[in-house]
Amino acid sequence: MPLRNHNILIVGGSSGIGLATAHVALAEGAQIVIASRTPEKARALLGNQIETVALDMAQEEQVKAFFENYNGIFDHLLVSSGMPGNVAVLEENTAEARQTFDLKYWGSYYIAKYGIPRLSERGSLTFIAGVVPFKVMAATGTMAAINFAQVALARTLALEVAPRRVNVVAPGIADTPAWEKIPAQERETFFSSLANQLPVGKVGDPEDIAKSVLFLMKNTYMTGTVLHVDGGQPLI
Ligand SMILES: NC(=O)c1ccc[n+]([C@@H]2O[C@H](COP(=O)([O-])OP(=O)(O)OC[C@H]3O[C@@H](n4cnc5c(N)ncnc54)[C@H](OP(=O)(O)O)[C@@H]3O)[C@@H](O)[C@H]2O)c1
Repeated sequence: MPLRNHNILIVGGSSGIGLATAHVALAEGAQIVIASRTPEKARALLGNQIETVALDMAQEEQVKAFFENYNGIFDHLLVSSGMPGNVAVLEENTAEARQTFDLKYWGSYYIAKYGIPRLSERGSLTFIAGVVPFKVMAATGTMAAINFAQVALARTLALEVAPRRVNVVAPGIADTPAWEKIPAQERETFFSSLANQLPVGKVGDPEDIAKSVLFLMKNTYMTGTVLHVDGGQPLI
């Protein structure tokens, strides 16, 4: 199998899309390193099959030190972390908007900047962006800007660090722990209402997105691209 014994770093691999990617990649024989602020969650779920690293990707010095001290080469890097931030601009707390940018955009930038020197020449880097800004919706301005910024960074890096490949997955709504801060009943109503509108008739599972990440890791003819895995949300 193409990922057998490949060394994959998943930043944000302790939950949701990152964790699902760890599961499917392990099933293909990959070696997985999970980095997040509290990676022991992943250790509890996946045991000794994985290595874990405590890392806050919004902290440049931490990211730099991790890669400088890492004694090895990665075949693939995935960045799958960020916090939801759906607030209308006029109501948004500017400091929180900046914090969201610091984590998701600047964190992705730090992983690229310090991680690519530790990435094999035929390796790949994948960012998880999101369906916004490809489906314009109220109260998504900051997240849309961040996602677009990730796409711009990825497309530029695809030229700058070739032959390494750099791609983006843009998921629609996926049922992950990120949504658990919304009360269960409200969340269920939101998911079922969206599922009824989407052409595919369901919201995404983390595995739907994880399989797309693996597709990009394995397909050596894809770089600088955005893979939309959104149940057709931009169509409605
Ligand atoms: N779920 C969706 O509907 C959806 C839709 C579109 C896009 N996305 C995007 O997909 C990505 C993953 O989302 P998810 O739904 O899988 O979320 P999730 O289940 O909440 O997982 C987020 C992961 O990010 C890690 N993380 C958070 N802050 C971090 C930091 N400062 N440094 C390192 N790791 C950090 C968390 O681990 P720790 O808490 O241990 O740090 C966790 O492993 C995000 O970028 C999100 O914007 C999600």
